[in-house]
Amino acid sequence: MNLKDSFIDFFVKNGHKLIPSAPVVPENDPSVLFNTAGMQPLIPYLMGEEHPYGKRLVDYQKCIRTNDLDEVGDKTHHTFFEMLGNWSLGDYFKTESINYSFDFLTRVLNIPVERLAVTVFSGNEQIPRDDVSADVWRSLGIKDSRIAFLSDNFWIAGEYGPCGGDSEIFYFRSDDEVPCVFDPDDDRWVEIWNNVFMEFYKSPDGTITELPKKNVDTGMGYERILAVYEGVTDNYKTSVWRNIIKTIEDVSSKSYDGNEVSMRIVADHIRTAVFIAADNAMIKPSNTDQGYILRRLIRRAIRHAKKLGIDINSDWDQRIANAVIDEYKRYYVELEQNRQVVLDVLQMEKEKFNRTLEKGLREFYKRTRDGHDIDADCAFHLYDTYGFPIELTVELACELGLKVDVSGFKERFKEHQSLSRTASAGKFKGGLAGNSEIETKYHTATHLLNAALRVVVGSGVHQKGSNITPERMRFDFSCDHKLTDCEKRDVEDLVNKWIGDGLSVTKEEMSKEEAIKSGAECMFIEKYPDVVTVYKIGDVSRELCGGPHVSNTSVLGTFRIIKEEACSAGVRRIKAVLE
Ligand code: ALA
Repeated sequence: MNLKDSFIDFFVKNGHKLIPSAPVVPENDPSVLFNTAGMQPLIPYLMGEEHPYGKRLVDYQKCIRTNDLDEVGDKTHHTFFEMLGNWSLGDYFKTESINYSFDFLTRVLNIPVERLAVTVFSGNEQIPRDDVSADVWRSLGIKDSRIAFLSDNFWIAGEYGPCGGDSEIFYFRSDDEVPCVFDPDDDRWVEIWNNVFMEFYKSPDGTITELPKKNVDTGMGYERILAVYEGVTDNYKTSVWRNIIKTIEDVSSKSYDGNEVSMRIVADHIRTAVFIAADNAMIKPSNTDQGYILRRLIRRAIRHAKKLGIDINSDWDQRIANAVIDEYKRYYVELEQNRQVVLDVLQMEKEKFNRTLEKGLREFYKRTRDGHDIDADCAFHLYDTYGFPIELTVELACELGLKVDVSGFKERFKEHQSLSRTASAGKFKGGLAGNSEIETKYHTATHLLNAALRVVVGSGVHQKGSNITPERMRFDFSCDHKLTDCEKRDVEDLVNKWIGDGLSVTKEEMSKEEAIKSGAECMFIEKYPDVVTVYKIGDVSRELCGGPHVSNTSVLGTFRIIKEEACSAGVRRIKAVLE
């Protein structure tokens, strides 16, 4: 059994239910572009909602973190990773959680206790020191000298949301003798697992209150623990990467040793691009949001493929993508289902970029020939004419020891009308869902819009994606034509009628089959557990959904469509506001 299966098996045997990995693009969380932790899709349940699978959950979650995208190239940074996690939603707490982690590491993986150390929350003005966890660790044989109390052992995703003190487990990864005293700053000790005891809620104004239930949220990066287990210090030498690196060696006719950095960048970026393109949100390379990340990943991979001497017009990217899909398809069915979509995305973006890459590079080297830094105009010209993401220009300049006027570029970028505001608004940082009042309203309005489109345009309309910010809602739906003015008006009128009708919003739990039979709308039925929550709005809408929603449509205000446009083939996009 491989490590991932052993992890799942261990927790299932201990009464946990395996839940499916949520899509990498969060379905109802506009504040982040991608899921960045296993707990992210579980926020409503950590906040107190009943989870249809019960109180003990286990999963492996696809995560993408792109904040340090440009650092990828070393042995341990990845833009995509899988987080193994187990949760207690108001069931067990510190003692059992720590015992489970300890048992898994020492009994299943046979890691010697001597190589382990832990950190525990030292407390602050509001929350006392976590002596309970420390005592549990002691009872399991962890010596005092291997327990460090730290004030920053408090975990929260973003600025506000469910949170709590945490206890991190470290492994001594070095051939040196294991020091008696644990020093968390000594990087021979690597963090392998985090147990968060989520008992608090931090509100946007900073107030900390108790959650209705005490929960456990744990996270263990799959590749890091795999590297420990397989006894390697370079993650790319673990078994998950073997065939992918081998394929890159084949297409470049070079060996990994000596070409590590570019090979790692190609491997990492193509893998992440595959997972984004295969996600059910059907992201395509673009200049905004997730599409921009996808574009940057592919373009940076192309640049490094070129550095490796790969003929970038050949099918190198397709071969690497196929190796990624083959490696992961057993766990993520969407990869096989969307294999062709992924290959097409890569092919099209490659063709697009290859047309200008050579010329752009020539232009770049011409401009920098005399050791000139890159000013805003030049960076913008490289972006606008040759499709160079600013990060690529910075990376190229860095290689020559030159600077780029990035803030000047950003100014120019903002002025450029055809670019969406979000891409430049720093939305690439991590964060947490804001279920503010207005976002909740938009959430309900999204269901009304979906229902209205099905009445006005036809029952062929289905939701393909949605994104909500406090300023507006965005809704993507299948439709083969541009909406006429008349259709748009009818949709607006119908939504506003339903708002005026003061329809109540109710929630019901039922089996997936019942939900389908009752005609409830949903995006990806296979993604849902056997027992689902259906939100009903009067008699006009039934949708599978995790909420939250307003309780009556009368509070929504006036609904207005501000834009209707093409999104991708056969998919239209509406942006709308509540006024
Ligand atoms: N949510 C915790 C983390 O990501 C477990 O570290």
